[in-house]
Amino acid sequence: MTSSASDHIDTLLQHTGQAPLDPATGSGPVALPSYRTSTVRFASMDVLDRAQAAKQRGERVPTYGRVGLQTHAALEELLCQLEGGQRAFLAPSGMAAISMAMLAFLSQGEHALVVDSVYGPVRHLHKTILSRMGIAMDFVAPDIEHLQAALRPETRVLYLESPGSLLLQMQDVPALSRWAHDHGLTVITDNTWGSGYIYRPLTLGADVSVIAATKYVGGHSDLMLGAAIARDPARIARLHETHYALGSTVSADDAWLAIRGARTLGLRMRTCGEHALDVCNWLAQRPEVSHIFFPAWPQDAGHALWQRDATGSNGLLSVSVDFDEHQVRRVIDALRLFGIGYSWGGYESLVTQVEPAALATHSYWAQIADARMKAGTVIRLHVGLEEPGDLIADLKQAFAAAGPRA
Ligand SMILES: Cc1ncc(COP(=O)(O)O)c(C=O)c1O
Repeated sequence: MTSSASDHIDTLLQHTGQAPLDPATGSGPVALPSYRTSTVRFASMDVLDRAQAAKQRGERVPTYGRVGLQTHAALEELLCQLEGGQRAFLAPSGMAAISMAMLAFLSQGEHALVVDSVYGPVRHLHKTILSRMGIAMDFVAPDIEHLQAALRPETRVLYLESPGSLLLQMQDVPALSRWAHDHGLTVITDNTWGSGYIYRPLTLGADVSVIAATKYVGGHSDLMLGAAIARDPARIARLHETHYALGSTVSADDAWLAIRGARTLGLRMRTCGEHALDVCNWLAQRPEVSHIFFPAWPQDAGHALWQRDATGSNGLLSVSVDFDEHQVRRVIDALRLFGIGYSWGGYESLVTQVEPAALATHSYWAQIADARMKAGTVIRLHVGLEEPGDLIADLKQAFAAAGPRA
């Protein structure tokens, strides 16, 4: 780790992964360059032998370009600082990082407990590759009663995502991790929402944190990148061998973009979170709105857990509205500042409609939704860095375009 005069994350995000000074000139670039190279050359066979020996001990010593050089190492260090981990392994997307973590900790005949509010494509991973390999998964409500009922002798992993996808259901990561450890399980969490800045599952008891750096770390909707981060040597070794075997690689330019994004992660996340709260305050006054899903919102069912475990919020929220299928399409089409699109965590505002079929897989929806919510629609908003008054005015004019119920 880079030595720093502070251990405050805002300071570390600026000082970790700096370019070294050239000993001959005493100077160096402020921004670490993108080291684009496919291989490494060594001064002598002795130097190469030493590098190989260090690699065998599990140290991060590149002998070939696939594991990445200085730019990748700097990003890994930044991600470790964010998440409170010891080693980070990069992957070409968030989904690739999830697959790597599953393959690292699950073998043929084993079973994983996965929260049912998980990012949708994890179900696809199970349905296609993992089930073919004889790995079983149950998608369960994130509480000990349901997890205990689904626990099997061959269960090895508890996979959490807090807050969960679509409805942002907060999970009690410390309690669930304690329960999982009592049963010898490895706890993997998807921490794309917190990205290590506002939420740190590894410090709450989880063993492995996976993130889609595509979202807030990159922050500019211009790269795809993921990572799995761990603390303890045994799990680091598992990730290391899996990462090496899979051969997934990340371009130095994308690692460079992610480092550039990470420098302003705090500013962007804080501002998106503040703007999202402004939008919630406006939504709460609207007669069409039946429910707001946003952990920082005092009426959110997970607000107490958010207050206890998170240090802030981001710009992602969902809202249940009375619009029928036709009205919601007119409203979304009328938006001018919210782009219609699936991602989040960038500088810009985005909107999508949450599919009823996806809601039906979340026990949280069954628990929270009343008849009014079930008759309406759920919209997901990513509130970006635009002036919040402009975003509210945009939503207001779009709501006015809803027209009558069919
Ligand atoms: C919670 C969560 N995890 C993981 C991913 C996957 O990230 P990527 O698109 O980089 O594969 C996403 C993408 O939307 C996500 O929302």
